[in-house]
Amino acid sequence: MDHFLHQNGILHAEDVALPEIAAEVGTPFYVYSTATFERHYRLLDEALSGLDHLICYAMKANSNQAILTLMARLGAGVDVVSGGEYRRAIAAGFPGERIVFSGVGKTRAEMELALTGGIRQFNVESEPEMHILSAVAEKLGKLAPITVRVNPDVDAKTHEKIATGKAENKFGIPISRAREVYAEAANLPGLDVVGIDVHIGSQLTDLEPFEQAYMKVAELTHVLRADGHDIRRLDLGGGLGIPYERSNNAPPLPVEYGEVIKRTVGDLGCEVEIEPGRIIAGNAGLLVSNVIYVKSGEDRDFLIVDAAMNDLIRPAMYGAYHDIVPVVEPAAGVELTPYDVVGPVCESGDTFTKGRDLPPVGPGDLIAFRSAGAYGAVMASEYNTRPLIPEVLVHGHQFAVIRQRPTFDEIINRDIVPKWLKG
Ligand code: LLP
Repeated sequence: MDHFLHQNGILHAEDVALPEIAAEVGTPFYVYSTATFERHYRLLDEALSGLDHLICYAMKANSNQAILTLMARLGAGVDVVSGGEYRRAIAAGFPGERIVFSGVGKTRAEMELALTGGIRQFNVESEPEMHILSAVAEKLGKLAPITVRVNPDVDAKTHEKIATGKAENKFGIPISRAREVYAEAANLPGLDVVGIDVHIGSQLTDLEPFEQAYMKVAELTHVLRADGHDIRRLDLGGGLGIPYERSNNAPPLPVEYGEVIKRTVGDLGCEVEIEPGRIIAGNAGLLVSNVIYVKSGEDRDFLIVDAAMNDLIRPAMYGAYHDIVPVVEPAAGVELTPYDVVGPVCESGDTFTKGRDLPPVGPGDLIAFRSAGAYGAVMASEYNTRPLIPEVLVHGHQFAVIRQRPTFDEIINRDIVPKWLKG
């Protein structure tokens, strides 16, 4: 079910025509569909039916307060990786017992924040972290619930920058050392060991690596239980991929992913958590941009648009593919032309795609980058003093700006000129 469709020849987000939003907020902007977020959450929830489970939305994918509020209302939990994200979760109404805290570099201040405000569990990633967390909890007179993130040394078969489950990656403790690390954790006075955590990477389009990793977790559960640990919760991470190229083979469905989970860890009597980000947010958002110029180069045509790498960095950073569709539906059978679609930023890396076949578009036309709801707005910057672009949430016929474009004065006045440079 796609909530971004052409209706009467104009691309809509649910029931709102995109030119209507463009007229109000200007371009470029991000637009999200409420119904899509809800649908993706529901599909995952159904995929895990029959299991005692909690879907902890990985807010790093899209942490706008409106999106978090929507997820909290659906009953989701949330995965946070910084004190800032923890504060966002609390502000959006997630109770502490639905917040899990991941990340390799948690500071004492972040631990204190979460222990004081309430936390479901810390996913601990190293022995030094374990010792600090125990000390911080003891000082506060609390017991910190933890899982240890194990690194199963499994190839996630995804882009190297977002693979996390190989021995060479900085994440987790080697699964081969799990027994000694758990023995140590059990002896630390400030910790309550509740389970095991694993996350092997992002944008996985094959279930096999999940299956391998989860089988290793199941095996480890038996071993650790035999050692006397009360393993009662398994955090299986996020990572399920989404279709970026509609023409390509579709990645596995949530229900198929759910079957892998049930098959591998379903009979252990554990509570199961997952930390999906992209599969919930990715295809719930578009980046809408305006064409500024069409420029003829020596051997190619450039479509220069008003969005750039600072707004959506995925193509520049990961060579990522995003579908591009004109907001005005092209006539059937129209001839396609190859374009390099580029932004105004002063780097050749500011290229969204090369040689993409597109219907004829010209200055003033709106285009939309699909699958931009995850790792889009959250990774944006103000490089070239280009203001962070607005985010808009659609709900049926309604839309609301959920983050405004800052003014240039706001941007400039954030900087402080020291007094010796004034006058
Ligand atoms: N849990 C942990 C511990 C993670 O590190 C991540 C993602 C997730 C869950 C959520 O993974 P997802 O379900 O979204 O695949 N910026 C990159 C993606 C980075 C992913 C980082 N960790 C991109 O634009 O592709």
